[in-house]
Amino acid sequence: MKKINLGVLVSGNGSNLQSIIDHIERSELDADIKIVISNNASAFALERAKKNHIPFIVIEHAEFPDRDQFDQKMVDILRFHSVDLVILAGFMRIISPFFLRAYPQRILNIHPALLPAFPGLHGQKKALDYGVKFSGCTVHFVDEGMDTGPIIIQAVVPVYEGDTEDSLSQRILREEHRIYPLAIQLYAEDRLTIIGRKVQIRCAFESKEISLHNPPITDINHLKESF
Ligand code: GRF
Repeated sequence: MKKINLGVLVSGNGSNLQSIIDHIERSELDADIKIVISNNASAFALERAKKNHIPFIVIEHAEFPDRDQFDQKMVDILRFHSVDLVILAGFMRIISPFFLRAYPQRILNIHPALLPAFPGLHGQKKALDYGVKFSGCTVHFVDEGMDTGPIIIQAVVPVYEGDTEDSLSQRILREEHRIYPLAIQLYAEDRLTIIGRKVQIRCAFESKEISLHNPPITDINHLKESF
């Protein structure tokens, strides 16, 4: 099967970049990372690219007069590297309509909450503050809105009473590292079709009917009996 060419955009730690690299190395993802682009010269993600001999470039947004020119530069670089699919992996800039037109339905993002809940920055903290019992992460196509594009896959994690923003983020990240490479592989296999807001996945198994409860229902019954 033909591998797809990825361009990965990062701003920070790059643990999602690492998980994509690891999946490619284990032949669980039929893709090549052609270029890593960071808007932040001190992003640890760049160390990961370097260590894995992946070409990378820093484009500081402050050096461009406006967002369109910054995005134009990124699009030029992505095209130069024959990138088929753009992966936002902790990239802390909003993608302009110009960029979207250059890569229509070919930009993916991962968000650390169960969209449409808690879009934007600090999804984990917003979930904690709201008091939800479950949160998770979402891989979606990027459209012109803020985390509003069609959803490909989501993973759910419980939120515990003692959670901090950090502990919840770590639990969510573990799932991010599983579902992002999977979503990219589904794209690589040409199994995703966008119909309106919905993404149809060809030949996907439907998960068995399950319900999750947090706290578990059995515990609640147990508590009741002990009063
Ligand atoms: C992740 O939580 C992701 O959901 C969000 O930014 C964070 C990036 O983490 N978009 P990393 O740089 O991949 O470790």
